[in-house]
Amino acid sequence: MIVVGISGASGPIMGIRLIEELLNSNERVAAIVSQAAGQIIEYEMLDEKESFTSLKELILKRGVTDNHNLLSEFENHDFFTPVASGSAKFEAMVVMPCSMKTLSAIVHGYADSLITRACDVALKENRRCIIVPRETPLSVVHTENLHKAALAGIEIVPPVPGFYTRPESLDDVINFVVGKVLNLLGRQHDLFESWGKRNI
Ligand SMILES: Cc1cc2nc3c(=O)[nH]c(=O)nc-3n(C[C@H](O)[C@H](O)[C@H](O)COP(=O)(O)O)c2cc1C
Repeated sequence: MIVVGISGASGPIMGIRLIEELLNSNERVAAIVSQAAGQIIEYEMLDEKESFTSLKELILKRGVTDNHNLLSEFENHDFFTPVASGSAKFEAMVVMPCSMKTLSAIVHGYADSLITRACDVALKENRRCIIVPRETPLSVVHTENLHKAALAGIEIVPPVPGFYTRPESLDDVINFVVGKVLNLLGRQHDLFESWGKRNI
């Protein structure tokens, strides 16, 4: 099982696309959406009169069905869930996108939300922890926190496209970042053509 936290940075669509890819590959996913992320989903992805209620509903609307009930969704304030403990044997924790606030909390062990607690668990149990930090430009505070993250063994995937894939749409850019995370997780995908496969 992969735990995917969506925190309040621009681009929640990236985490949602990752979840959809995992579900399409019959992977179990535990998803956590922070309160700020819920608001950003509404702002960036929904019509004015719509509100964000649950990921399950959102991905269903986007045409992805979870026929085998592979997606569990947890509240970001609920510490009585399995992923809040090392006893839950999840494979990896991904925060996508990762806000600068959540980055700061993760690298300082300030586990006051389920997303930051699940990262804390991943680190203490020596499991994979991957973040997709989203902010620009970056301050010295942000870069110092990213440095701390790297020292802690957190894998950092900035949402930066490779222009060698010649992206033609925002979807191409999103797929590139999702594909990079799937690469780290060792999962097959056809979201973009890897470097070296195209004859130029
Ligand atoms: C529309 C919108 C976009 C935002 N984008 C970012 C962003 O890209 N990066 C970031 O670090 N914070 C961003 N923020 C601010 C965070 O949402 C805010 O710091 C929040 O407290 C993060 O909480 P969380 O990490 O618990 O989800 C944004 C806020 C809004 C309303």
